[in-house]
Amino acid sequence: MAQKDAASSSKLWGGRFAEDPDPQMRALNDSIRFDRRLYYQDITASMAYARALARAGVIQSDEADQLERGLTAVLAEFEGGLFAVAEGDEDIHTAVERRLSELVGDIAGKLHTGRSRNDQVATDLRLWLREAFATIAALVVDLQRTLIGQAEANLETIMPGYTHLQPAQPITAAHWLMSFFWMLQRDHERLAAFGHRGNLSPLGSSALAGIPYPLDRAALAADMGFDGVTRNSLDAVSDRDSVAEFLFAASLLGVHLSRLAEDVILYSNPAFGFIELPDAYSTGSSLMPQKRNADPMELARGKTGRVIGHLTGLLTTLKGLPSGYNKDLQEDKEPLFDTYDTLTTLLPVVAGMVRTMQLVPDRMRAALQPAMLATELADWLVMAKGVPFRQAHHLVGEVVRVAEEHGVSLEALSLDLYHSVSSHFDSSVYGVLDFDAAVARRTASGGTSPVAVAAQIEQARKLLPEA
Ligand code: ARG
Repeated sequence: MAQKDAASSSKLWGGRFAEDPDPQMRALNDSIRFDRRLYYQDITASMAYARALARAGVIQSDEADQLERGLTAVLAEFEGGLFAVAEGDEDIHTAVERRLSELVGDIAGKLHTGRSRNDQVATDLRLWLREAFATIAALVVDLQRTLIGQAEANLETIMPGYTHLQPAQPITAAHWLMSFFWMLQRDHERLAAFGHRGNLSPLGSSALAGIPYPLDRAALAADMGFDGVTRNSLDAVSDRDSVAEFLFAASLLGVHLSRLAEDVILYSNPAFGFIELPDAYSTGSSLMPQKRNADPMELARGKTGRVIGHLTGLLTTLKGLPSGYNKDLQEDKEPLFDTYDTLTTLLPVVAGMVRTMQLVPDRMRAALQPAMLATELADWLVMAKGVPFRQAHHLVGEVVRVAEEHGVSLEALSLDLYHSVSSHFDSSVYGVLDFDAAVARRTASGGTSPVAVAAQIEQARKLLPEA
């Protein structure tokens, strides 16, 4: 068992301990390895806290100045890559305070007055999350713009639309691309809303019970750019809702990216041939010279699994916690940072893929099958002949069966055979069987016609911030 040495007496919580912590327990307990990433938030929040202590008369204003100067120097060490983590630095909070005391002496000990690492880490995280929400939202907007760009270039491009991955009805490629715009628009709005909701300051909650000093929490919060203060100190020190909301917003965003990725993977398969993958965003095989793979899209799909895992992990960590801070909460940071890093790496690559992939209109058109116009025939029976839709649906079903029996497509089926199903059919059915006309008819808002999609794009543009 290690004897307590001189250095450990300066430890933040060393007073009541006679012996040093076991090295293996420290390897488990210490978080400096990953939470040093919060240095900027930790130091700037400490500067604001020093100013608040001075305003409350808890410390002198020249003491606050000294603390702030010292903290500025510590910050510069981090920014310059010069900060040296010392033996005994447990986490970012203890590391900063240890270095501050080396620089400004005993007065550093006044900074922690009334403060606990519990409200400190909650504050640091919220400050960090504020930026994180905004950064991811901005990357989502970049991808949205890219989708609009490809959609505008393909307003008139017609492709098969699928349900159950079976050919369903013709749609425009712009319509397909814009469907992802709207998924991402919800993500972008969700990120903004969650970022806003979490922008409250826990500082002044102390360990759990609040602070006995006359600290103006609202002024302190405003100093840090928060919109207000948390309402209950016991809740505030263990509230990780913002982390969970970030991971949820990230997971759902991931789900959308993954679905886009799946379409690109499928449509770039030569059996479809709708998309040609760009060199810059595809890879080859070390064995098969002909191969071109959509690896970044497979990674979008794969990494989404990992992000959803982080959300599940955090919720599982939170669900059984008793009131107040518990060390389990230290497990919030690695999934949070990993999710952020995953998305900041992934989103620009997905945008690059969308921007540079080549759609192949000829292959899309070649994949259209006349049977995809069966609904048009039913609609024609309704509109031109006044047949109730249910009956029209049934009659066209019979037509499809007869065409299959004779091994011909709907447009090649003779008028006699149409008549064998119903006398409602006349030669104008052949005019109905037209892919472009089928698409062009769907002009109602939200529909696939070039006119409706152009209107959709117009609306979409208005939702994005100025470029
Ligand atoms: N490193 C800790 C965390 O990330 C900081 C809070 C520690 N608080 C405590 N009472 N031990 O959660």
